Amino acid sequence: TADAHSTHDLAGWRVVVSAGGTREPIDPVRFLGNRSSGRQGVALASAAAQRGAQVTLVAANLAVPAPDGVVVVPVGTAAQLREAVRSAAKDAEAVVMAAAVADFRPVSPAETKIKKRAGAQAPTIELVENVDVLAELARDRLRPGQVVVGFAAETGDDQGSVLEHGRSKALRKGADLLVVNAVGDGLGFGTAENDVTILDARGEPVATASGSKDAVAHAVWDAVRALG
Ligand code: CTP
Ligand code: CA
Repeated sequence: TADAHSTHDLAGWRVVVSAGGTREPIDPVRFLGNRSSGRQGVALASAAAQRGAQVTLVAANLAVPAPDGVVVVPVGTAAQLREAVRSAAKDAEAVVMAAAVADFRPVSPAETKIKKRAGAQAPTIELVENVDVLAELARDRLRPGQVVVGFAAETGDDQGSVLEHGRSKALRKGADLLVVNAVGDGLGFGTAENDVTILDARGEPVATASGSKDAVAHAVWDAVRALG
């Protein structure tokens, strides 16, 4: 709760939070998007500001208002988000990638609106992979000692449980912390309640949190502080 953190334990910290979902243009009026509302990222930004941090919120198409008291950098695409995050991260003690970044973008968006033509075949949209911003931040460490945090929304499937997928993602990304969120069956996207396990760089659980996105946000900052 807010009371538990009235100590301003992030005073003197500069932090970057990405939030929302990127939109990759198909043509001037259409995009490839996702259902991220930005609520969790906004809660993270708000919690950090409450705890005394200087916060830059890189905001991709938020469905909710940004909090007061943070610097907002609006972005649309994954490429724009990457530039904004890297620019702010040069002077930050921590970066949290809560945004849902598109894995792929259309190779060459049409310059004019794609039209239907009688009898013509449906168009095929060719995609190319976007840069993995989180993995790149974890590799580059734009500032010495910077803490890099990722989020992963996972579902269990025949390849493994939510935590097994989270663990292999933690190892793949190289971030200091990965916040694994079980989605599906009304959990996660667009909902107020959350249920997360925070993994370290080796994929080992260091904390769990459930409840509001604010509670999860504070648990994430607690885990960041606990790193040292
Ligand atoms: N992420 C990123 N850049 C990308 C894709 C994802 O920075 N191009 C970040 C997200 O912001 C999140 C983390 O990576 O913090 C995990 O995203 P997720 O989509 O779960 O991971 P992927 O590696 O894309 O794996 P998947 O195939 O499950 O989508
Ligand atoms: Ca992805």
